[in-house]
Amino acid sequence: ELSPIDQAKFVAARRSVDFVESGMKLGLGTGSTAAWMVRCLAERVRDDGLEVTCVATSTRTVDLARSCGLKVVSLDDVKWLDLTIDGADEFDQNLNLIKGGGAALLQEKIVATASDRMIVIADAAKEVAQLGAFPLPVEVVPFGWQTTKALIEETLYSLDVLNREVSLRMAGDAPLRTDEGHFLLDLNLKRIGNPRQLALVLNQIPGVVENGLFIDICDVVVIGQGDGRVTVRD
Ligand code: A5P
Repeated sequence: ELSPIDQAKFVAARRSVDFVESGMKLGLGTGSTAAWMVRCLAERVRDDGLEVTCVATSTRTVDLARSCGLKVVSLDDVKWLDLTIDGADEFDQNLNLIKGGGAALLQEKIVATASDRMIVIADAAKEVAQLGAFPLPVEVVPFGWQTTKALIEETLYSLDVLNREVSLRMAGDAPLRTDEGHFLLDLNLKRIGNPRQLALVLNQIPGVVENGLFIDICDVVVIGQGDGRVTVRD
């Protein structure tokens, strides 16, 4: 009944909750793959009698996790986490990621960084040789966002990035607002030659809050395929 892509997301999600142990403090990601994981986690908690405390990366995930019966607290209640499980838009051989397609990159990066371990769950199509085919989301404050956008374009030019299309993400007629009230710029770069450098310089521009490059944060990728096979990469 599931389409191959949903089957791939589901089997990766189901495998990822095998890494959960009773007593853990867990970070819950955002997106369609993470939503499968939340349902699988709730099932394990019920069936195996696990006790876990969860921190969610978006209001969407808070609502879903609570409706599944999971205990959700704020990050400030626990400060540090044992494990975060989240989706991604792209991952490469070094397990560096692009995230933020679901607009939750800021909380996702804070939560993943607060965790001893991050597991990414993804369908096989998200593996790339070089990051950047997926437009890189950058979260910016609304004040002076057009100046911030121009500074980003100037920075991309100085880094010799050839493709430099930057667009404001919309939600209908109005700019999309993130959970923190910010805007998102999507940087269509095609190829990111040096993701580590780009992540650092973007965050030095005034008005930039955070970018969707996750460098040296992810420890394991659980890859699902449409035929139900799963591979674990670490
Ligand atoms: C949310 O901001 C993103 O980082 C998601 O993790 C990413 O977009 C993956 O989403 P899907 O699991 O829906 O593909």
